Amino acid sequence: MRHEKLIKKFQTLKTPFYYYDVALLRKTLEELKHQSSKRNYIVHYAVKANSNKKILKIVKEFGLGTDCVSGNEILRSIECGFNGDDIVFAGVGKSDEEIITGLKHCIFSFNVESVQELEIINSIAESMGIKANIALRINPNLDAKTHSYITTGIKENKFGINQADLSLVVEKLSFYKNIKLNGLHFHVGSQVNDLNVFKNLCTKINEVQKWFNNHNIEFDYINTGGGLGVDYENPDENPIPDFNSFFSVFAKFLEMKSTQHLHFELGRTLVAQSGLLVSKVLYIKEGANTNFVIIDAGMTELIRPALYQSYHKIENLLSNGIKKRYDVVGPICETSDTFGKSVLLPETKRGDLIAIRTVGAYGEVMSSRYNLRPEIKSYFLE
Ligand code: LLP
Repeated sequence: MRHEKLIKKFQTLKTPFYYYDVALLRKTLEELKHQSSKRNYIVHYAVKANSNKKILKIVKEFGLGTDCVSGNEILRSIECGFNGDDIVFAGVGKSDEEIITGLKHCIFSFNVESVQELEIINSIAESMGIKANIALRINPNLDAKTHSYITTGIKENKFGINQADLSLVVEKLSFYKNIKLNGLHFHVGSQVNDLNVFKNLCTKINEVQKWFNNHNIEFDYINTGGGLGVDYENPDENPIPDFNSFFSVFAKFLEMKSTQHLHFELGRTLVAQSGLLVSKVLYIKEGANTNFVIIDAGMTELIRPALYQSYHKIENLLSNGIKKRYDVVGPICETSDTFGKSVLLPETKRGDLIAIRTVGAYGEVMSSRYNLRPEIKSYFLE
């Protein structure tokens, strides 16, 4: 990443800050739209990846819906121009207040995660004199082959209704008059790079759908969730994910009726590569075994490396010196406040600008005020 004009601009801004490449975001959304609309697929943007209003408004321009996991994400979607019937709402712990928010906005779907949640949504809808649109989120019991913290679809996880409970669900449904069952929902996990995982998901969905059909239940749509991964190692070589190959898996292996629609909930792939965290070097410190580059951003601004040991490419935007190895760390009082160990960087000095790449998803949204750190700014440049 060496755009001289941009770097000059960065030098005038107070660090640390998030920077979003709007042109790349638009290109990514254009490619997604191209690949999804040629198959008539409907995509909901997973707001949890980045709920910045500017991003949501751009996503809206491309005609996507949203996938929400809280009442506030529903309200944020509405505020940014989405309609209730563009919105799906998942989450194992929907509060009564959040259910009421969803019902008031007549959302497209509550993705229901337990038998008890069905009962509660039914009774709240009954008290409001309306019907709730729902999809059943089924736990597919599939290994997503990703970090265990972002695996959601194995039966030990808290997510979705286990297949062992399906008979009970069917039995209960006949009593719940304020529920309209329209769809089936799944989500295997996040940052999934092996497309075979999605192929296995299709096989599972086919099985589950057949089971319901045998119990005289048909669905208007299937929602396969999100999870497609991005290339954290090579952001410049692969800035836009391969949506064509991803959708092709579903076109090939998912058995759909001609009247059924297919929905997706993509978060990371749409926004990750367009975000940068820009930070300044405060100190260079010689350690016992390594040299530390201490920067003014910490795990409070980007928690992914500390939480998931995730890799983000790190670049020095100002130096052309000979390459050396450094541990790049932040100012927070935790050893896990480390962005990268033994990172090869051109010789680095106080005042250099450090860019941490691929942080548009699950970056800004997961920041915290730990150590009384101030909220940082984000900039959007075309
Ligand atoms: N749908 C559901 C039901 C989800 O739980 C998620 C993500 C998505 C869709 C969007 O998944 P995506 O396309 O973004 O992979 N904080 C973690 C990621 C947590 C993902 C949680 N669920 C990280 O930084 O890697």
